Amino acid sequence: MMKRNIIFVDDEQEVLNGLRRMLRDMRKEWSMTFVNSGTEALHHLSEHSFDVIVSDMQMPGMDGAQLLTGVMKNYPGVVRIILSGHSKKEMILKSVGAAHQYLAKPCEPSILKATIERACSLRAMLADNDLKQIVAKLDSLPSLPNLYIEINNEIRSSDSSLKKVGEIISKDAGMTAKILQLVNSAFFGFYSRITSVNQAVTLLGLDTVRALVTSIHIFSEIKRTKVGPIGVEDLWNHFFSVGAMAREIMKLESGDTRLMDESFMAGMLHDIGKIIFITNLAEKYETTLDSGIDSDLSLSDIETKSLGADHSSVGGYLLGLWGLPDSIIEAVFFHHRPGESHENSFGVITAVHVANAIAARENPGYTVGALSEIDRMHIERIGKTDRIPVWEKKGEEILHRV
Ligand SMILES: [Fe+2]
Ligand SMILES: [Fe+2]
Repeated sequence: MMKRNIIFVDDEQEVLNGLRRMLRDMRKEWSMTFVNSGTEALHHLSEHSFDVIVSDMQMPGMDGAQLLTGVMKNYPGVVRIILSGHSKKEMILKSVGAAHQYLAKPCEPSILKATIERACSLRAMLADNDLKQIVAKLDSLPSLPNLYIEINNEIRSSDSSLKKVGEIISKDAGMTAKILQLVNSAFFGFYSRITSVNQAVTLLGLDTVRALVTSIHIFSEIKRTKVGPIGVEDLWNHFFSVGAMAREIMKLESGDTRLMDESFMAGMLHDIGKIIFITNLAEKYETTLDSGIDSDLSLSDIETKSLGADHSSVGGYLLGLWGLPDSIIEAVFFHHRPGESHENSFGVITAVHVANAIAARENPGYTVGALSEIDRMHIERIGKTDRIPVWEKKGEEILHRV
């Protein structure tokens, strides 16, 4: 197996020594370089090829943001991770648009290892060179919402409670209003009106609330109402319907609440690549969509021809960098091509794929190109052909409710 090349940058020798000790047992798999400054790091990068850079934020001379911005420009294939002692996470996320991942010091070895490994194995899965280059060049990738990070931290803390999670969300008035509006929509079918986030968290569960927080946040970054032929409101309805349908289709096949939650989250995020294109390449994407209005090609083919990659690949790639669960990343990555995935029995990938195809057929107005259809060969392969009519009936029912 090829060793991964990883370079660690920190002005404090103590920190580097700590990392070296902590990661000693990774020596078989990783070849690690430790340096004290951004200048040294850039020197090493110019002489050897690296897979990952892990940098401190505050350093004299060139700081972490400047360093990673330079790396992004000159070595776009390198995964960029900030390991910082700074506590104001959001500020760092904003100032370091150049970082793919942010980790707080002190960092558990297991978390650092998992973060680096995930970033690397994802690169292997998404090894397509064009895709890597395209994503690395985008300068304003949506960030994982600060609220999501706060909720996760709360869940990890020893005295976490649903009530505290509710309080964290309540601090954000816009988010609170939007969540309550959704929770009170007909889809969830609660008999009495939900008036607080605490109630919503208790009724829906943390995973569903996290999925809502994430989608609401990324939509808030779109500063326009229409992109080419696509209305942003329609796109939002599409995200929500696919999330809702994927969840219910999963419920039909498996009562497992974890799989249902994952299907909802993956459905709520499945087209996030479109938002990346909208927020980064607005005009080019608009032209791309306009050119596809009467096309017989699929939207994925239209995007790939014009931009070098399609929204499912770019979306999956971003969610990987955010560190979302693999099941979500894969469902997003394969939602238009489940047959290329490893899924050989019914799972989250298939649930999202089917939900998207039903939503597209019932409400074709939000997209361009040939209609996405259920991949019958894939469904045949997983032995579920007889279930298609049942899913379709369920899907239509939900669309009428939403
Ligand atoms: Fe899609
Ligand atoms: Fe879609």
